[in-house]
Amino acid sequence: MRSFISNRVQQIPPSGIRRFFDIAATMKDVVSLGIGEPDFVTPSIIINAGIDSLKAGHTHYTSNNGTTELRVAISKQLQKLYQVEYDPALEVLITVGVSEAMYLALTAILNPGDEVIVPQPCFVSYAAEVSLAGGTPVPIATRVENNFQVTADEIEAAITRHTKALLIGYPSNPTGAVLERKTLEEIAKVVQKHDILVISDEIYDRLVYGIEHVCFASLPGMWERTILLGGFSKAYAMTGWRLGYAVSPPEISGAMKKIHQYTIMSAPTIAQDAALIALQQGDDAVEDMRQRYDRRRRLIVDGLNSIGMKCFEPRGAFYAFPSVRGSGMDDAEFAELLLNEERVAVIPGRAFGIGGAGYVRCSYATAYEKIEIALERIANFVRRHG
Ligand SMILES: Cc1ncc(COP(=O)(O)O)c(C=O)c1O
Repeated sequence: MRSFISNRVQQIPPSGIRRFFDIAATMKDVVSLGIGEPDFVTPSIIINAGIDSLKAGHTHYTSNNGTTELRVAISKQLQKLYQVEYDPALEVLITVGVSEAMYLALTAILNPGDEVIVPQPCFVSYAAEVSLAGGTPVPIATRVENNFQVTADEIEAAITRHTKALLIGYPSNPTGAVLERKTLEEIAKVVQKHDILVISDEIYDRLVYGIEHVCFASLPGMWERTILLGGFSKAYAMTGWRLGYAVSPPEISGAMKKIHQYTIMSAPTIAQDAALIALQQGDDAVEDMRQRYDRRRRLIVDGLNSIGMKCFEPRGAFYAFPSVRGSGMDDAEFAELLLNEERVAVIPGRAFGIGGAGYVRCSYATAYEKIEIALERIANFVRRHG
């Protein structure tokens, strides 16, 4: 029988992350630094809002765009945090996580042959989602010398007459890099000069440590050119609730709504009710988790550096991205042997695209005590192989 799978899908490589989880799942006593989601359970105030929603019989679809209350609350939150204005009726769309928002954004803007610049290493879905939407991802490597910040010059060098958009995600998964205001302003100038759009995945915006998060849409002239994606998964520990949003100028938002309406209908109703309470009453819980991540961040960065695994200081999200070069192994070998010999799971940097080889991603969204055990085991491993 012939294959019925589309070329588009066949050409997409499987995620490099999954393989490690599959191996780790068959082993006992593994300490996983591989997970890209909070270890915390959703704060109880938010869980209770979900339960109340169910009990009140909110078991139907909502408006395609999401509930008015939640759209208003998101608009207010963005105004409060970043002084950006979005009309809840026309410019805010509630989605099934940033994952769906990303799919909508790319599908809404891309024609076949359009190029999207994707600085890497980055979240594993970016390049794949560009391809699935019919576009061509153009990866550019960020470098540790620049603290894994993409520069305006690197972006400008990758722009061609086919470039439609730049897709950035800062604070970064997997490096923990945060773009400084000056760098962002330089990028904004290039974006304006070459008349391109920016899709800015700011899902980790609330998880920054001693540095400000600058919302891309708040930069001069960028509101018109930005599709801003945000969500509840990370800061509110709500990955399983599957809720996010996209805010953008009305024409783009309208196009995204069209796709959302036909493919998804509406984001989960219970999750929308819970997210409303998260925005209205969740700040203390977010701050508590942020402080706990920060404590773990210092433990893991200091620990890795003292073992001899040079680790750039992550300023956001919940990942450390140390170099494995001192071990004489490449990142894939390092991760595989570390898992087999010491039962510590980390993700090879190459899974996150170009510029990732030679590094491993260590998530510190895991208990402090587990990170201590992982560091001891990694120290044994490096001593043995160093
Ligand atoms: C940078 C980044 N964007 C988006 C997502 C997916 O988010 P959501 O759960 O909102 O779909 C993740 C999840 O790991 C991520 O790290």
